[in-house]
Amino acid sequence: MNTDMLIVGGDGDLALRKLYPSLYYLELNNCMPENTRIIGMARTGQTREEFLVKVKEWLKANVAAELFSEEKWESYSQKIFFAQGDATNAESLGKVREEFLGEGNQLVVYLAIPPLIFGKVCNALEGCGLAKETTRLVVEKPLGDSRESFIAINNELARTFPEKQLFRIDHYLGKETVQNLIALRFANDIFEPLWNSRYVDSIQITVSEEVGVGNRWSFYDQTGATRDMVQNHLLQVLCLTCMEPPAVLDADSVRAEKLKVLNSLKMIEGEEVLKDTVRGQYERGVVGGKEVPGYLEEESDKYEIDPNSQTETFVAIKAEIQNWRWSGVPIYLRTGKRLRGRHSEIVVHFKQSKHKIFQENHENHASNRLIIRLQPDEGIRLRVMNKVAGLEPGIPLESGCLNLWFSDKKEIKTHDAYSRLLFDVLRNDQTLFVSAAEVEAAWKWVDTIFAGWKSTGMKAQGYPAGSIGPVAANELLSRDGREWHEIEPRD
Ligand code: BG6
Repeated sequence: MNTDMLIVGGDGDLALRKLYPSLYYLELNNCMPENTRIIGMARTGQTREEFLVKVKEWLKANVAAELFSEEKWESYSQKIFFAQGDATNAESLGKVREEFLGEGNQLVVYLAIPPLIFGKVCNALEGCGLAKETTRLVVEKPLGDSRESFIAINNELARTFPEKQLFRIDHYLGKETVQNLIALRFANDIFEPLWNSRYVDSIQITVSEEVGVGNRWSFYDQTGATRDMVQNHLLQVLCLTCMEPPAVLDADSVRAEKLKVLNSLKMIEGEEVLKDTVRGQYERGVVGGKEVPGYLEEESDKYEIDPNSQTETFVAIKAEIQNWRWSGVPIYLRTGKRLRGRHSEIVVHFKQSKHKIFQENHENHASNRLIIRLQPDEGIRLRVMNKVAGLEPGIPLESGCLNLWFSDKKEIKTHDAYSRLLFDVLRNDQTLFVSAAEVEAAWKWVDTIFAGWKSTGMKAQGYPAGSIGPVAANELLSRDGREWHEIEPRD
């Protein structure tokens, strides 16, 4: 069936920086369904030629030079059109329909616009007959800043589009290694028997970023790391790491299992935030050999910087899933900006036997750890104990590792997270999209933490840019006799 993809906000930052480059990857991989047309819609007046020049520029800036070819661009650009109009107005959308959209074509509408106007666009789509039973609507965060505001946004969408037609993007679910978690857990029978509180001591999920807030200060100051990263990306990773095996690998089953995890998260209430959470804010420091300003010294894009802002650019949380499999296993989450490096990983620490037979160097006898590296070097590392080679008496131990890297360091990626997700929208597969119930459950958990921060007046602690975060984040684990897994170089 022919497909029309209408991108509302078609010449905005998200569309230019992410969507057109990702759709180009689909073209490059010959994954674009035949007869697909991409229609960028925006209020600004410009010709198709002018628009294509802009798209091409952004594409070249965002796609590896080796992957750009004039020939591919030629075939790709033939699919791209520009429609001037106001998507909140049914008449205006009706004109776009007449001029660009094929009757009987499958329609995908991507709302690359602020949620504030989602409702108006949905009404206009309905008003001009584009909200059909086969229309798919794609949206992405920020989907509210609390459970309540999410529900309000979602109601606006749900009034016109049932859940089956709504695709909520979390770009972490488009990452190759995040999907590989499903393969690792459920296609390798050796892990499943160990994947529970009997054998797992604790789990750590880290998403560490080198970048600061960039030119998004005003947005970020209203948001902070918990809303920006934990409510969505980290909790989704946690769900895939800890969910029960779905009965079948389809959207309903996978999303139902993730939802059960979110609903089993122990609420961190009131004063518990003082013990189970850490908020941090970066101060001036050095990242990647360059001096960088502190959060409160950044250049603001819109509003004046509030010198008393307590917005957290770092957060660490000790979470727990209260169910049969995981009760009692701490799951430590941490994420922050302006940290020492850009790394994301999941570390599963296994328990050690209480009975030790390697007495002499028992302190070297570290527990087994499974490290799942999400980025930048995607792969898996299993830390195991080995005998030190040689003629020393007894069996001296050292920690070694089994490595499985998924990609060659030099390999150029021919697709990204968005291309995977857009491909799935075109295939009508919701497995990697987040359900309304999941978003709501995640907000409920996060809202409780915010309420605790408010009632206790808990402040953000400073940490120097280029460090691993505030001291209190280390104490969060040392109190439990544990420490953060130090990010290991690949080789
Ligand atoms: C986005 C956040 O959702 O994810 C950004 O809004 C963050 O603040 C980004 O930098 C991180 O994504 P990635 O893919 O670079 O890890």
